[in-house]
Amino acid sequence: MDLLRTKSIEQSLADADEPGYRLKKSLSALDLTVFGIGVIIGAGIFTLTGRAAHNLAGPAVVLSFVLAAVGCGLAALCYAEFSAAVPVAGSAYTFSYAALGEIFAWIIGWDLILEFFMAAATVAQGWSAYFGTFLDQLTGQPSGSHVIPDAIAYGANGADVGFNVDLMAMLLVLLLGTLMVLGIKESMRVNLALVSLKLFIVVFVIVAGIGFIDRANWTPFVPASSAPPADVPQAGSTLAQPLLQWLLGLEPSSYGVMGIFSGAALVFFAYLGFDIVATTAEEAKNPRRDLPIGIIASLVVCTVLYCAVALVVTGMVSYEDITQSAALANAFAYHGQTWMAVIISAGAVAGLTTVVLTTLTGATRMVFAMGRDNLLPLRLATVHPRFRTPYVAGSLVTLACALVTGLTPVGVLEEMVNIGTLSAFVLVSIAVWVLRHKRPDLPRPFRVAGLPVIASLAVVVCAYLMLNLAIETWLRFLVWLAVGFALYFLYSVRHARVGTGKKLS
Ligand code: ALA
Repeated sequence: MDLLRTKSIEQSLADADEPGYRLKKSLSALDLTVFGIGVIIGAGIFTLTGRAAHNLAGPAVVLSFVLAAVGCGLAALCYAEFSAAVPVAGSAYTFSYAALGEIFAWIIGWDLILEFFMAAATVAQGWSAYFGTFLDQLTGQPSGSHVIPDAIAYGANGADVGFNVDLMAMLLVLLLGTLMVLGIKESMRVNLALVSLKLFIVVFVIVAGIGFIDRANWTPFVPASSAPPADVPQAGSTLAQPLLQWLLGLEPSSYGVMGIFSGAALVFFAYLGFDIVATTAEEAKNPRRDLPIGIIASLVVCTVLYCAVALVVTGMVSYEDITQSAALANAFAYHGQTWMAVIISAGAVAGLTTVVLTTLTGATRMVFAMGRDNLLPLRLATVHPRFRTPYVAGSLVTLACALVTGLTPVGVLEEMVNIGTLSAFVLVSIAVWVLRHKRPDLPRPFRVAGLPVIASLAVVVCAYLMLNLAIETWLRFLVWLAVGFALYFLYSVRHARVGTGKKLS
């Protein structure tokens, strides 16, 4: 059994050109940047800002945003180098198949499926919560009463009513999944309209919020380390404690310098998405130039906006009073600006829609790429003759996601998305470096300057952020990996086309 067998880059490029398995090339640099911003700005900034400030970092949450951006920026450079050199669907996975070998490719692919799939499911539930808030605000519901009944809103209304269904989240996933299967160009157009609206809302929060800032709320900027506030779910429990604190034998605590790091590990979620740009490489018109532009431009725009939002919101409301969800809308409600809160909720609804669409697309592309290599069943890689989209993988991902988001309480599992992604970033940064040595001849339209330094820093920063995630997140992640390995050894190892030599057509 050769777990380190590799699939050559030339073979990956050739497979991507097989009729029946080939995707339509229609995306420009601007499309890719819009696509990137579309998936980056989402539940993270609209909901996690409040949670990270209140529970972990206080006003210093802006530093958490900067730190998370540094980790993403370093990984983004490595992503840009490989996605420009190997522009095929599946991105990091395909790439590591060539650089590191099959077992590593499998781990990355499996991690990225976790990232995209869980992101789609958690953000769909966040969408449903904001949609409910929006309807309630619009119709002036008295506190505690909701337009959408608790029984079909799952936890979205904040009520614990036992087992029920998040119908809105489920319908959203089904609708967007259908759009995706019908063709990427159509979905991109919808995306463009929604992204513009979302950008407008984020800028609106910054500009309108400045007038309500009270500088006193920024003092202390880094609150002294203390026990987690009592209103944090599971406050003080060992399982909810960051792994690093536990390893160092510290008491569960919030704030202080450690709080900035655990805040960064949480708000990292808000940046995810730039890596999804790389998964659409095969559909880009001029991937070698446009991919690095798309990846880096979308990350830069979002970093600037996020830091500004974090400063404004923590300036408007003391971190002790910030609400843990819907923090942006509630900061305005706090100052009696109800209509502004309505506009922000509407923007969040639009914003989260595009994130669900793009993460669903990302998950589909991953399953498609792994199917095409027969690490998953080959049928999953069939492309629709007319729509030219991977409709089998797309339908499967959509249905599974609709069920999970509709029937389980995944809305609180953002950290699962983060751990899946951070581990993939660590492996990718190593892979880019390895491939420089293994294939110095490969044309690289975009080369990271000082790669050994950048890649090492990316590994250190991402690994450090992982250590700041909760123990329970690590346990769930280990279970996910165990399932992945079982699948790999029971199925993929014997079917992989690299081993069987099976032709696509
Ligand atoms: N970055 C995406 C979001 O914040 C995943 O929703």
